[in-house]
Amino acid sequence: MAFPQTRLRRLRQTPPLRRLIRETNLNPADLVMPFFVCPGKNVETEISSLPGQYRYSIDALVKAAGEAVKAKIGGVILFGLPEKKDPLGKGAYAKNGVVQTAARALKDRYPDLCLIADLCLCEYTDHGHCGILKGDQILNDETVELYAQTAVSQAEAGFDLIAPSGMMDGQVSAIRKALDSFGFEMTPILAYAAKTASAFYGPFRDAAGSAPKSGDRLSHQMDFSNSREMMREISSDIEEGADIVMVKPALPNLDILKEARSRFDWPLAAYQVSGEYAMIKAAAKNGWVDEKKTALESLTSIKRAGADFILTYFAIEAARWIQDK
Ligand code: PBG
Repeated sequence: MAFPQTRLRRLRQTPPLRRLIRETNLNPADLVMPFFVCPGKNVETEISSLPGQYRYSIDALVKAAGEAVKAKIGGVILFGLPEKKDPLGKGAYAKNGVVQTAARALKDRYPDLCLIADLCLCEYTDHGHCGILKGDQILNDETVELYAQTAVSQAEAGFDLIAPSGMMDGQVSAIRKALDSFGFEMTPILAYAAKTASAFYGPFRDAAGSAPKSGDRLSHQMDFSNSREMMREISSDIEEGADIVMVKPALPNLDILKEARSRFDWPLAAYQVSGEYAMIKAAAKNGWVDEKKTALESLTSIKRAGADFILTYFAIEAARWIQDK
């Protein structure tokens, strides 16, 4: 039936009608908050390229995470800034590394908060690469061994989910095997499966001091031009044992999310990355866009495209906005 019998505006007339037919609703539980943890006491340093985000020492993080608990968000993911960086990224798999220690403190205080560990070496290596270098090559299999070791140290520290983000081949199966052999067969893996080499990570690298000193990440992170290859990455991570798969960054990859949703029945996550957040913050600061509305529109679109949950620096704020609505 066409116009005038059909009038699509009928259902848009009032807030109750709009609410009734709304297809996508964002919930606080859909949102995961990233936190940067650093050594020291009572440290809370704002990150200039990520306004409203801080590098926290563990004591300050415990306080900040209380807000996440109060806002009833889905969880938090931790990134570590180690005391010292070295060529092998030892801080990533140190028993008492900064994220391992933070996880113990958070679990102790908030046993019900879902704790996710980002797993990569780039925040811990002095050269800023995601793995071990031989000349200018990033070694795959040797790096994966260190990822496996890191995963075990994170599981021992009490993380609920291990999230490898290094994009080395075979990392998921190596981590699964290591976790199983150390008695962590029930610790699930959230694989950064389709992660592109994206310029949108700029502010994060600033925050974590993890920009590569030379070269780039093009030999392991994906070419954002390739959607079929992204499907291969996702299916190979699933075959290797991933429990949840992720697409990253989010907004530039809505088509990938939609396709992944229709092809795979695995839980699907998306990461609204630092650059996506920083752009909204910067434009809002200039009065060019409304922060709350643009943030909620982006997040809702990511969910509509197919994400079950979203990692976002807006998590706590957005959860409050949703609850106030
Ligand atoms: C670690 C990692 C990065 C991000 C998440 N995990 C940085 C990178 O790949 O360079 C980026 C997150 C963001 O930009 O918010 N490898």
